[in-house]
Amino acid sequence: MTTDSYTFPAGFLFGAATSGYQVEGGLPTDWTDWEAAGKLKHQGVTCGPAVDHWSRFDEDVGLLQDLGAQAFRLSVEWARLEPESGHFDETAALAYRSRLERLVARGIRPVVTLHHFTHPRWFHSTCPWHEPSCLPRWEAHVRRCVELARGLDVVWCTFNEPMVFLLGGYLDGQMPPGKKHGGEAGRALENMARAHVIAWRCIKEVNPRALVGIAQHLMVFAPDRKWHPLDQALSRLADSQFNWAFLDALFTGQLRLSMPGVVQARADIHHGATMDYVGVNYYTRTHLRFTAEKPFLRMAFKDVSKRGLTDIGWEDFPQGFGLMLRQLKRFHLPVWVMENGIDDRTGNRRAAYLHAHLKELLAAIADGVDIRAYLHWSLLDNFEWLEGWGPRFGLYGVNRETMERFATSAVAYFKELTRTRRLPQSALLAPK
Ligand code: FCB
Repeated sequence: MTTDSYTFPAGFLFGAATSGYQVEGGLPTDWTDWEAAGKLKHQGVTCGPAVDHWSRFDEDVGLLQDLGAQAFRLSVEWARLEPESGHFDETAALAYRSRLERLVARGIRPVVTLHHFTHPRWFHSTCPWHEPSCLPRWEAHVRRCVELARGLDVVWCTFNEPMVFLLGGYLDGQMPPGKKHGGEAGRALENMARAHVIAWRCIKEVNPRALVGIAQHLMVFAPDRKWHPLDQALSRLADSQFNWAFLDALFTGQLRLSMPGVVQARADIHHGATMDYVGVNYYTRTHLRFTAEKPFLRMAFKDVSKRGLTDIGWEDFPQGFGLMLRQLKRFHLPVWVMENGIDDRTGNRRAAYLHAHLKELLAAIADGVDIRAYLHWSLLDNFEWLEGWGPRFGLYGVNRETMERFATSAVAYFKELTRTRRLPQSALLAPK
């Protein structure tokens, strides 16, 4: 319970989020091949060793401790555990175990993502998501991950943003495996929903009390022309299908995705719920406009508040965070904010962004949403997928020549937040 509207509830966790490939790189994956094939926005850009988090893990955990973080989201890289199909690297498993233990020893709760966009190189040609053969391979991978974490108090996130992966990987072809195929997309989503259930079961077998969920990207969709019935219909459809269909499947056990002419998926995956918390990634709002030509819709980020778009070009829309959080009440489950952050290349806007979003989060708690954690995206600057190295999402910046970490001005804000467990004074919002 909050004691006043600026204080976070007892037990609320503050932390930061990362994903393996974006901060570690250094391994051949499907994304390495994607980069080599020139599929990123800028030619010649590669992830390489990313920001060398794999070898600087302890240093980075030190940064988490300085921040006063109590949780850290990381992802297990399947390509590290099974570099060749059927060949498992036990040394890698031990390395992951030791990392989780090091976090726990420092009082930081690990939040482990099992799938955050990347795959081993062999995956799409051997057992792609749209084929049933993916399921036993996934199960073997999950069992290995669960085994390496045995006895540790880990929060599990099976999939990061399944709908973003579906769009990019199977509908607009922007991410590996680069498909544009509604039929395969539907089958892939069904298999991913089943894969989630498989993971849920494997985890519960070993630790019935473990928390299992996903990180769902929630985006506010608004009609570009408020008055236009087709823009309105498009926004409603996008909201129900992109934001809610997958979460509903894990909640009810029935997947029902229907985007006419684009993708359909229908599967009974379980009797009842297979999620223990609702994991949310929130960044922005987008405006949708119906167009006469394919793909019959245009998406635009508008600077409605005149605060300026963020550097990646997204609207800075904190109210949308509150709006989305309030809608989660219907699940009657604890909510974990798994990602929220800003591409801020000068480092001047992050504290204000954090402040405005945390204010919304506190208001949602006051309205009865059971929010348990806030994990900021991201601890460090990192490789931003198609955008490469332009965006800077880190609380800590990284000089990629020297790999030195440096605090952005939001670090002081974050430290004050974790020290007082109250929304910091607005004086801390100004850049140093
Ligand atoms: C999310 C992704 C994450 C990162 C942020 C900016 O959609 O989950 O990996 O790229 O966006």
